[in-house]
Amino acid sequence: MKESIKNVLGQSSERTQVRLAGWVRSARHSKGLSFIDLTDGSCLSGIQVVAESSLPEYAEHVAPLRTGCSISVDGELVASPGKGQRFEVKASRIILIGDVTDDYPLQKKRHSFEFLRTVGHLRPRTNTLGAVLRVRSAASSAIHAFFEERGFIYLHTPIITLTDAEGAGEMFRVTTLDPLTPPTTENGVVDFGKDFFGGCAHLTVSGQLEAEVGALSMSRVYTFGPTFRAENSNTTRHLAEFWMVEPEVAFCELDDLRLLAQEFIQIIVTSILDRCAEDLAFFDQRIEPGLLERHRKLIETPFAHLTYSDAITVLEKSGKSFEHPIRWGIDLQTEHERYLCEQHVGGPLVVTDYPADRKAFYMYRNDDDRTVRAMDVLVPGIGEIIGGSQREHRLEGLRTQLARHRLSEQEYSWYLDLRRFGSAPHSGFGLGFERFVRFLTGMENIRDVTPFPRVPGSAGF
Ligand code: 4AD
Ligand code: MG
Repeated sequence: MKESIKNVLGQSSERTQVRLAGWVRSARHSKGLSFIDLTDGSCLSGIQVVAESSLPEYAEHVAPLRTGCSISVDGELVASPGKGQRFEVKASRIILIGDVTDDYPLQKKRHSFEFLRTVGHLRPRTNTLGAVLRVRSAASSAIHAFFEERGFIYLHTPIITLTDAEGAGEMFRVTTLDPLTPPTTENGVVDFGKDFFGGCAHLTVSGQLEAEVGALSMSRVYTFGPTFRAENSNTTRHLAEFWMVEPEVAFCELDDLRLLAQEFIQIIVTSILDRCAEDLAFFDQRIEPGLLERHRKLIETPFAHLTYSDAITVLEKSGKSFEHPIRWGIDLQTEHERYLCEQHVGGPLVVTDYPADRKAFYMYRNDDDRTVRAMDVLVPGIGEIIGGSQREHRLEGLRTQLARHRLSEQEYSWYLDLRRFGSAPHSGFGLGFERFVRFLTGMENIRDVTPFPRVPGSAGF
């Protein structure tokens, strides 16, 4: 195997032999000498390769090089006289492995993100998408490390399920029935009892309910996997398929959960500042000026906290005319969320204790009987990135809630059992991973922080 450019650039001293391979970001051929900017995606920087025209097979393997060609390089790692790079490679042999045809869509100039989405199979070769994907990878590994260090068990919750966690009806159906001639019941409706899973199965919208099974047996668990929502939302913060990080903790109430969410975000940001310094500096320079400053402030400042009712008061007093008018009981819209954290707080904000009518059936009902112990974490630029709650762990309370939401006790019998047999207060949250990567990188569109976005009308690859 070849070495990675990242490792080679991180070397402490010069050395006689390096073997690299990658893609030509740009090539400049002048008399007697070629300069090649070589990248292999391991880090943002490419490495400069210098090739003299006296090299063996220069005419076939070096002279034709241009943006996009794949090559291998043997050479010597030497101190670079050029600015902004410690080392360069003095090539002793270059092999042109894969040439490019004239219609290669990526050139050295900047391309718009809209255009890059049309060439999703090539866009990871660009600086920005490469940096996004490295941050994404580092963040997911930091997330696993965060939980592992705190004794959380990683639970693999199902992707196909007969249960609807959010009760919101935005699910993709999973079926093997023939849509043209499905079996029907006596009443003429489709008989899903004859379907593969013996019922109406869907792709999961959240691993939460199953994570509760884990928490009420192993105390602290988390799940981190793909989730699916069939909402027809064409926005910069919605995907039909996205990844969610969901810790679930027994013997934990809402205040502790809020602090866990804060610690979680602060630790992951700290880790990314450290592990992805080069990529973050790039985002700071090219995508969101002030990004590094924002992250540094975030890791040392406790998150602000408002109850929903106080948040409504703040919005009412703001004097701003919002598109969606303010009154107690409304769903907070993105414009409200962004006003609260951008104008009112100037940083992340946790809003708790939402109106019960707006929230899922499983949330713990407060004594006022009109709010639930729900929690959203809102951040500047995006709005909600975390949604969570203390769960209703009291059997009778949960029964009442199921009835209010017109959900069947029979379908949720296993979930009720958790309240019948050794129930305990427990709480958890879900972080939308792609929204978090937007937050980490400053990228504006969620379609540009996932390698293969799934949105209404599009699921290529
Ligand atoms: O607020 P949500 O719907 O909460 C739940 O699903 C809970 N069951 C989680 C839990 O308590 N374990 O979703 C959680 C987060 C949101 O805050 C948002 O960041 C993200 O998931 N999210 C989406 N991200 C991208 N595209 C979508 N369509 C999303 N819907 C939710
Ligand atoms: Mg939510």
